[in-house]
Amino acid sequence: MIRHIYVHIPFCARICPYCAFYKDLLDRPHTWRFCEAILRELELYQGGAIFPGSPEVAVATEGGKSFRRTRDRRSSLLPSTIYFGGGTPTALTIAQLELLLRGFRERLNLSCLEEWTIEANPGSVSARKADLLKKFGVNRISLGVQSWDDHLLKLLGREHNARQAEESFHLLRAAGFANINVDLMFGLPGQTIEQWRSTLEKTMALQPDHISAYCLTYEEDTEFFLRHARGEFRQDADADSEFFEIAMAILEHAGYEHYEISNYARPAFSSVHNRAYWLGKDYLGIGPSAVSTVGMRRWQNVCDYRSYIDRVLSGQSPVGPSEDLTSEMKRTERIALSLRTRDGVSASDLKHFAQQTDEIIALGLLRKSNGNFVLTRRGKTLADSVAEALV
Ligand SMILES: C[S@@+](CC[C@H](N)C(=O)[O-])C[C@H]1O[C@@H](n2cnc3c(N)ncnc32)[C@H](O)[C@@H]1O
Ligand code: SF4
Repeated sequence: MIRHIYVHIPFCARICPYCAFYKDLLDRPHTWRFCEAILRELELYQGGAIFPGSPEVAVATEGGKSFRRTRDRRSSLLPSTIYFGGGTPTALTIAQLELLLRGFRERLNLSCLEEWTIEANPGSVSARKADLLKKFGVNRISLGVQSWDDHLLKLLGREHNARQAEESFHLLRAAGFANINVDLMFGLPGQTIEQWRSTLEKTMALQPDHISAYCLTYEEDTEFFLRHARGEFRQDADADSEFFEIAMAILEHAGYEHYEISNYARPAFSSVHNRAYWLGKDYLGIGPSAVSTVGMRRWQNVCDYRSYIDRVLSGQSPVGPSEDLTSEMKRTERIALSLRTRDGVSASDLKHFAQQTDEIIALGLLRKSNGNFVLTRRGKTLADSVAEALV
C-alpha cells in the first residue's frame, strides 16, 4: 500500500542561478498536455500498470499499447500525504491547477489524507490561486522566500522582492492556510550575519508554522557553481556554521522544534511527508524526473518533460532507470537520513559500527537517547562528516 505521493511540476517563470532541481522555463503551449500526462500517469498506477518489479499477472491493452498489469497489493494507492513540488507548481495557471487537483480528487481515495503540500513561489501566488488550492484540499503551503533582503534576492535571481513575498504570505493566511512553511537560504555570497539575523527576525514576526533553512550548496551545472569555480564566490565553512548556529538559537528560542538539520516546526507542524521520506517509507513519484521507491525497487521517470509527455500520452511507460535495492543499501540510506533527524538513528542500524559510533560519541558529536543515536548540538554542525564516518 503506497501512502506517500510526490508530484514533480518542472516549470518556473525564471530560472534561479543556484538551482539544480529538474526544471525548465514555463512553456505555456506544453503545460496543458503536461497536466493531462500527470493525470494519465496516476491512472496507470491506479490500474496497477507499469509498476516496475511487481509480479506480472496479466497484460492489458489500452489504445493499442500493452501494459504489464499487476495485482500486487503494494501498488494500491491510499495516500496520507501528497506533495506537489518542483520547479514551481504555482507557475501553472488557475485552470491548470484546478484540472490537476480535481483530477487527483476524482482518481484517488483521499479518506486517509493528512497533508497535501504545494510548493509556491511568491512571484506566482494570487488570492484566487490560494482560494482554489484551499477549496480542493491542499492544506500546507511551502513558500520559497529565501531572504527578506532585496539585494540578496536580486543576486539569487528571484522573480519577487521582499514586499511581494510578505504580501504572498499574508494572502495565503487570509485564504485560510493554517500550515505555511517558509524556505530560507543562508551562506549566500556576501551575506552578513546581521542580514541573516534580520531575515530570521522578520520571519519570526510573520509566525510561519514551519521554516526550512538551507545552507547554499554550489550545485554542479549551475551558474553559481561556475562563479564559485572562477573564484567570484567563496564558501566559508566557519561562516556557514555560524549562520546555522544562529538559526538554531533564534528559532528554538522562538519555540520552533529543530526536528531535522534544515527544518524547524511549531509543535505538531513537522512535515508528515518529509518525515515519512526520512524514515525510509515507500513513496510514489509522478512526473518528469520523479523517483519512486517501493519495497526493494527504485525507479526514476525520464527527466525531459517533452519526452515524459509524449511517452505517457502515447501509452508508453515514463519510467527511465530502475534498480533493485539491497537491505544494505536501504540501511545505509536510513542511517544517512535519520541521522539528520531529531529522533536519530536506531541502535539496530548501527550495530555493526560499534567502534565508529563510540569514537564519534567520545568526540562529543553523538549521544544516546531513548535507545537511538542522536547528533549533539556540535554534531549537527558537522552532520555530513558524521554521516560519512558511519556509512
Ligand atoms: C523547489 S524549490 C521551492 C519552490 C519554488 N521553486 C521556489 O524556489 O520558490 C525548493 C527550495 O530549495 C532550496 N534550494 C534550491 N536550490 C538550493 C541550493 N543550491 N542550495 C540550497 N538550497 C537550495 C530553496 O530554498 C528552495 O525554496
Ligand atoms: S524557482 Fe525554485 S525550482 Fe525554479 S529555479 Fe528557482 S529555486 Fe529552482
